[in-house]
Amino acid sequence: MRIIRTEDYNSMSRCAAKIMAAQIVLKPDSIFGLATGSTPIGAYKQLIEWYKNGDLDFSLVKTMNLDEYCGLSGDHEQSYRYFMNHQLFNHVNIDINNTDVPNGIADDLQAECERYDGLVKSFGGLDLQLLGIGHNGHIGFNEPNTEFDKNTHVVDLKQSTIDANARFFKSIDDVPKQAITMGNKSIMSAKKILLVASGKEKRDILERALYGPITPEVPASVLQMHNDLTVVCSVE
Ligand code: PGA
Repeated sequence: MRIIRTEDYNSMSRCAAKIMAAQIVLKPDSIFGLATGSTPIGAYKQLIEWYKNGDLDFSLVKTMNLDEYCGLSGDHEQSYRYFMNHQLFNHVNIDINNTDVPNGIADDLQAECERYDGLVKSFGGLDLQLLGIGHNGHIGFNEPNTEFDKNTHVVDLKQSTIDANARFFKSIDDVPKQAITMGNKSIMSAKKILLVASGKEKRDILERALYGPITPEVPASVLQMHNDLTVVCSVE
C-alpha cells in the first residue's frame, strides 16, 4: 500500500490526476474503473485541462463505472451516466461507446449485472480502478456488511441513503430505492486501485479502512488485501 498525503483538496486532485494520466501515457488503451461522488471531480477537471492543453489523449481509453441507480435513464440529471458525461466524457476525446455505466433501466437487472462482470472478466480485470470512500466505509454501493466475495449486484438502498438523496429529487417517492454496483470482488480484480479521500470527516473511516481489522463492517478494509493500492488523501 502506498499512501500519499497531500495538503488540500486541490493537491489531492492534481496528484490523483497525475497517476491517472501516467496510466494513459504508459498504456494508451487503458481500461479505467471510474467513480462518481464529489471527491473525484477535481481530478476529472485536471484531466480535462491536460487534454485541452494537448497533453493527454483519451481516444483509446475505455471506462467502466462502479455503479448506477436503478430506474434512472442516462439523461436523468441524478443518474451517474449523466454525471460522468458532464464531469468528464463530454470534455475529452473519449469515444462515448467505450464508456460503460451499469444500465439502471435494464429490463433484466440480473442479466445486466452478469453482462458487467463478463466485461470486467474479458478485460482480465480493469487496469486502474478509481474509488472514493463513504463515511461508513462503503465503496461503490457496497454498504457495511456486504460480503467481500460479491460480484456486480443489485442493492436495496438503506433508508438513510434514500433520505440523504431526497434533496436531489422533487419528492422522496422519486428517489431510487435500488442501485446496481460492482461488488467488492469485481473491484478487487482491478490490477491497480487508486483510492481518493478528502476532508477531516473522512479521517477516521480512512484510518479504520487502512489500518483496522479487515472486515465487511468496513467494506473499504478489503483494499488492504490488494497488492497495488495507492491512497491519495488530504484528511488532516
Ligand atoms: P463523496 O462520496 O466523494 O461524495 O464523499 C464518496 C462515496 O460515497 O463513495
